Amino acid sequence: MKFRARRLEEFSTYAFAELDRVKDEVARTRRVIDMGVGDPDFPPPKEIQGALVVSLGDINTHRYPSYQGNPRLRESIVRFFLNRFKVKLDPDKNVLVLIGSKEGIFHFPLAVLNPGEVGAYTEPGYPVYRAGIVFAGGVPHPIPLREENNFLPDPDAIPENTKLVWVNYPNNPTSAVATYEFFTHLVELAHQRGFIIANDAAYSEIYFGEPPLSILQIPGAMDVAVEFHSLSKTFSMTGWRVGFMVGNPDAVASMLTLKKYVDSGVFGAVQESARTALDNYFILSDDIRKIYQRRVRKWLSALKEAGIEGKNFGATFYVWAKIPENFESSAKFCEHLLRKTGIVALPGSAMGPSGENFVRFSMTLPDRDIEAGISRLLSEKIT
Ligand SMILES: Cc1ncc(COP(=O)(O)O)c(C=O)c1O
Repeated sequence: MKFRARRLEEFSTYAFAELDRVKDEVARTRRVIDMGVGDPDFPPPKEIQGALVVSLGDINTHRYPSYQGNPRLRESIVRFFLNRFKVKLDPDKNVLVLIGSKEGIFHFPLAVLNPGEVGAYTEPGYPVYRAGIVFAGGVPHPIPLREENNFLPDPDAIPENTKLVWVNYPNNPTSAVATYEFFTHLVELAHQRGFIIANDAAYSEIYFGEPPLSILQIPGAMDVAVEFHSLSKTFSMTGWRVGFMVGNPDAVASMLTLKKYVDSGVFGAVQESARTALDNYFILSDDIRKIYQRRVRKWLSALKEAGIEGKNFGATFYVWAKIPENFESSAKFCEHLLRKTGIVALPGSAMGPSGENFVRFSMTLPDRDIEAGISRLLSEKIT
């Protein structure tokens, strides 16, 4: 291609084109039940929608938003953090509103990493960690997540010269949650070695037992860590594009400098809705948690009945399952499952080599589709 920069080369090929082809083929004869993508199937609560509509009546809503985020939204973020995590933030120094957490995750290495410096990230994982490091001219260093460590990385696997370490808890795709001990170890290491930790906490409010930790709850974390939050999953707002970054003041200031040249903030009405969501976060997210918990439980027991070992560690709307031994790869198993049942799952290897031999099922589809999936799963011999 003539008008294409070399830096795009490694991002041009799509490894799962074959699976998409099979999906189209199956869709010609039966309804496909898509558990491949994590995108909520129901709208945000009415209160959040209402706040958007009311905000449209205010002229200030339609003007350029503030780069750092509406001060009133930043105050709501501070209150949310205090109530939910017992962590005190300064709205001017520790908080930055993002156009969805993806935007911040991608741009963060550009703000803190120099070309040639090492950025570590866990895999299997959200592909944007690696992409952000590569586009910033950094050297990406994957750290595997393994079942025997409950999908927590071994901090000793972080190279000596690392400047940035991405972790993601609660984790997509494994659903693992971080322990206090793990976060503490990581924070201590960051102090010793001088790297910055970025925890992607996009799923922090999708939990079914103990609420997951923020890394900022660890003593000393504010000196060495930032955390990325999202309203997308918590309040079913994926299309609205709003999230935020909190933590180390230098890192927040660096991101703000960068973003002043990248974008002009989040639409004011969306920020007003985000305020309503966060000011009432527990009430507005509790029904959503219950829906996912019910679905996760149902799907886990169906998998068990079908002879497949699935797991959810009490957070995220994903079920992470081991492929049966007689399949050579997770992609091959996904193809078999799709042909036999019309159910789409994500091959674990799509999110990194250590995801091989696992598949991810997302519970973001209506209950009736999950029920249909269960009866298809149990009426076919899958393993
Ligand atoms: C682990 C993880 N982080 C971040 C995001 C991005 O979320 P958003 O940009 O909607 O806030 C996603 C979306 O799927 C995700 O799975």
